[in-house]
Parts: sequence; C-alpha cells; structure tokens
Amino acid sequence: MKDRILKYLSDEYPWRESIHYEPTITSTNDVLKQMAAQGAPHGTVLIAGHQTGGRGRLGRSFLSPPDVGIYLSMLLRPSSPPDQLMHLTCAVGNAVCDAIESVVGIRPGIKWTNDIVCRKRKLAGILTEMVFGTGQQIDCAIIGIGINCTQSPGDFPEEIRDMAGSLAMVSGKEIDRAAVAAAVIEALAGMDGILLPERHAIMERYRKNCITIGQEVSVVRGESIRYGKALEVDENGGLIVAFRDGDVETVSSGEVSVRGLYHYV
Ligand code: BTN
Repeated sequence: MKDRILKYLSDEYPWRESIHYEPTITSTNDVLKQMAAQGAPHGTVLIAGHQTGGRGRLGRSFLSPPDVGIYLSMLLRPSSPPDQLMHLTCAVGNAVCDAIESVVGIRPGIKWTNDIVCRKRKLAGILTEMVFGTGQQIDCAIIGIGINCTQSPGDFPEEIRDMAGSLAMVSGKEIDRAAVAAAVIEALAGMDGILLPERHAIMERYRKNCITIGQEVSVVRGESIRYGKALEVDENGGLIVAFRDGDVETVSSGEVSVRGLYHYV
C-alpha cells in the first residue's frame, strides 16, 4: 500500500520520507500523537489498513474495518497560537473535498463542521486534535481523516446504514484507495504556509462547500435539543444559528452536534 501511495504522489511532494503505513493499529491519531512526543517532524503521515480503536468527534467511535477505507493522520507543527488556527478543520474539509473530486470525479459537500457528505450520506469524517506544550502554545496538531472507500450498503451496520456511504456507492466506480490516500495527503500538504495568510479565502471556500448553511437544524448539546436555522459560518468555523425562540447564537464544533431536521444531513 505504502509503495503504491508513494507512486501516486507528485515529485514536488515535500515529506515523502515521513510517510508510515501500518496494516493494523488502534488509532492513527493516538499513535501519531505518541510519535509526535518522540520528535516526529512536521508533515509526518501515518496510514492504517485497519483501526481497532478509531475515534470520532465528541467521544464517538469511527468504524474502521480492514481494507475498505482510508484511515490516516498528519502531524503539523504550527508556529501560530491556537486562537489563529480555529479554522484548521475547515481547511482540512476543503482539502478532502478537493482530493475526492480529483480522484473520483464527484464533488462532495461538508456537513458542518467536519463530515464529508454526498447524496445525504457521510463518506468521511475529520478529527483534528491540538496537543499543547507548556503554557498555551501548540506543540502540534494531529489531523485525522477516515474515508469510506469501497463498502457496499450491506457492509455498514444497520444503525448507520441509511446515513453512511462510500466513494464506490456514490460514484459507481471502482475505487483505488492508494490514489485517494495520495490525493488527500497531497491536498493536506497544500495547506502548508497558506493557513494564516489565506484564512479569509479558506473560509469563503468552506462556506461554498458547507451544505448546512441555510438549513433547518437541530442542535444537540448533552441532553438538550434546540431547533433553528443555520445562518452562516463565522471566520473561526463557528456555526451561527437563529433559534426558534429568537436567540441567535454561534455554536462551536467541540460542544454540539448538528443535524438536519428530517435526516442526518
Ligand atoms: C468523525 O466522524 O467524527 C471523525 C472521524 C475521524 C476518523 C479518523 S480515521 C483516522 C484518524 N484516527 C482516528 O482514530 N480517527 C481519525
């Protein structure tokens, strides 16, 4: 797998030596975090064929069965303070949409904040985690991406069957996982150096990709559910919601889950 991914990468790809592949791993985010603590450099990528403890947002698990998906994490060592990197997950969402479109020929959208969707089905998820050093300085950021590639509907457990999809299902094409992985890695590397100077342009692109804007949504925070309309995404990636009781609030991805009213999207 690793050799095939390397073959797909362009000659300009900057961090070729720092790509690692493991057939089975607990979670690429967790293991890459350990590698970071041992000094792994900016741009290190860890890919797994299978995860036994894949994690998603808000403490959820991310189903990662063998050889049907891409489970990868990239380590970044940004020099900027965390409050200037609130849009990192949005930039990653844009990059994943670009990568999928370049290989599969379909343009997915983003369900705020970090679900990559197509035809009302979730194809991929993003889990960005910051590791802090002393004080409030970021030691590193771990960007984790899981993409369903070759599954058929029957491969998903019943509870998620009507909302999960794969690249093969939505495109009707045979999917080369190595090609998709290489395109994602290349698109992530393309963020290097532009995150801060092009923040506004990144957020403009995110808003175009984000299918949640303009939708009626339910906002779930712990036990509470509130209903409203998603108005906009702000420059930090927060979702501005007009609730039915008249309040307009910005909700942040770390605390709430947002769903369409009639379907997961
Ligand atoms: C979500 O859907 O909430 C995010 C899912 C992120 C899954 C990826 S798979 C690679 C990396 N390792 C993990 O344990 N999680 C991320």
